[in-house]
Amino acid sequence: MTSRFQDHGRATAPEFASPLRLPCGITLPNRIVKAAMEEQLAGRGGHPDARLVTLYRTWDRGGVGMMLTGHVMVDRSAVAQPADVVLDAAGDLAPFREWAAAAEKSSFWMQINHPGRVVQRDTGSRALAPSAVPVDIGPLSKLFPAPEPMTAGDIRDTVERFAVTAELAEQAGFAGVEIHSAHGYLLAQFLSPLVNKRTDQWGGSLRNRARLLLDVVAAVRARVSPGFGVAVKLNSADFQRGGFDLEDAHHVIEWLGGSVDFVELSGGSIESLATAGHPADERTLEREAYFLKLAGELVADASIPLMLTGGIRRARVAEDVIARGFSLVGVATALAQRPDAPLRWLAGEDGEVPAPRSSLRSRSLRAAAVQASITSRLHDLSRGRSRPTLAPAAALFVDRYRRSRALRRRRRERSTTS
Ligand SMILES: Cc1cc2nc3c(=O)[nH]c(=O)nc-3n(C[C@H](O)[C@H](O)[C@H](O)COP(=O)(O)O)c2cc1C
Repeated sequence: MTSRFQDHGRATAPEFASPLRLPCGITLPNRIVKAAMEEQLAGRGGHPDARLVTLYRTWDRGGVGMMLTGHVMVDRSAVAQPADVVLDAAGDLAPFREWAAAAEKSSFWMQINHPGRVVQRDTGSRALAPSAVPVDIGPLSKLFPAPEPMTAGDIRDTVERFAVTAELAEQAGFAGVEIHSAHGYLLAQFLSPLVNKRTDQWGGSLRNRARLLLDVVAAVRARVSPGFGVAVKLNSADFQRGGFDLEDAHHVIEWLGGSVDFVELSGGSIESLATAGHPADERTLEREAYFLKLAGELVADASIPLMLTGGIRRARVAEDVIARGFSLVGVATALAQRPDAPLRWLAGEDGEVPAPRSSLRSRSLRAAAVQASITSRLHDLSRGRSRPTLAPAAALFVDRYRRSRALRRRRRERSTTS
């Protein structure tokens, strides 16, 4: 095996292999982070079960320095998907303790999220949003109910829910939480001038649009111990004309300084689909780590560690992300495909991981099919199965079937608890 990291003929350890001490005091053994992937594997009551323990144990053994869970809902009455994990005051902490214990080597953090208006009608979720601006994704828009503009009471309640979930995550044994403020979910909806049309203290100027995120961060920080990690996932841009852009991201990162341990940079929203895959096969580092060029502009004067996620599937690209000044490298798809990729990369292999591709003609269908294929891979790993990844188009059918079963269970559970 030849090392790709050579210094005058001598193999050198890659930069991403070095430990990182975060402001909260946690030291990560290396810079490779398993980024959040919604697993859709919750058991009864939105609780994790043995499948999620198996899945995260697999990644923990694969060499990552840190693992982020898929997004965990802070309110069971508003879920992005019917089989999403929920952690709120009504839940049972014991299964979360077992989940947290899956990590033996890496630092295990929970990503916490409120979907806002991105909830499908059939989940029976309450669609909250800063303003009554509906989701616009063409013919599929009808899957989403018209959102209710949030009252001041709804906003206070949401801040409290994030704080409660973070507190419970700490009690369960997680090392930190990442607050999801990207990809068009509730906190990103407040940040976006296209979705947030409010004229009160939560709308208008960027400072006002960022108020909910900053209040959530402050409430979480006040509720957890100083050694517990708090991070934020933020879009470097929404990729929509008139949306949240790079300059906005720059200011928000500045305001988060001193309160969070790192900011993960990603991009896109349900309406722009920029997270759905890198645009081309062209092999320049920027094309592979597709937010690198954009997010790279944020690195120069950031006072907090930044993590870059998106399109990273080989060691050379991970190394370049660190060389450009990022502290952490977020990897999602490649770790679904090959959970032990970090061990290979740390051992000096370039270890490129192929990504699933779909040739369906519609862009949104293609994105959904690739996502379904990765989800089916997570489901296989959670059962200890190692068959080849399901082709994206076939995965779409399996996904529909699985989702309808989860929906039926959610409806049964809600009818017995209401
Ligand atoms: C199946 C799947 C589920 C995802 N779920 C989440 C999620 O729950 N939270 C989140 O912040 N990002 C989620 N993402 C986005 C990833 O974290 C990441 O930002 C994106 O996939 C780009 O990185 P990659 O090219 O390494 O996959 C998901 C991605 C996939 C493929």
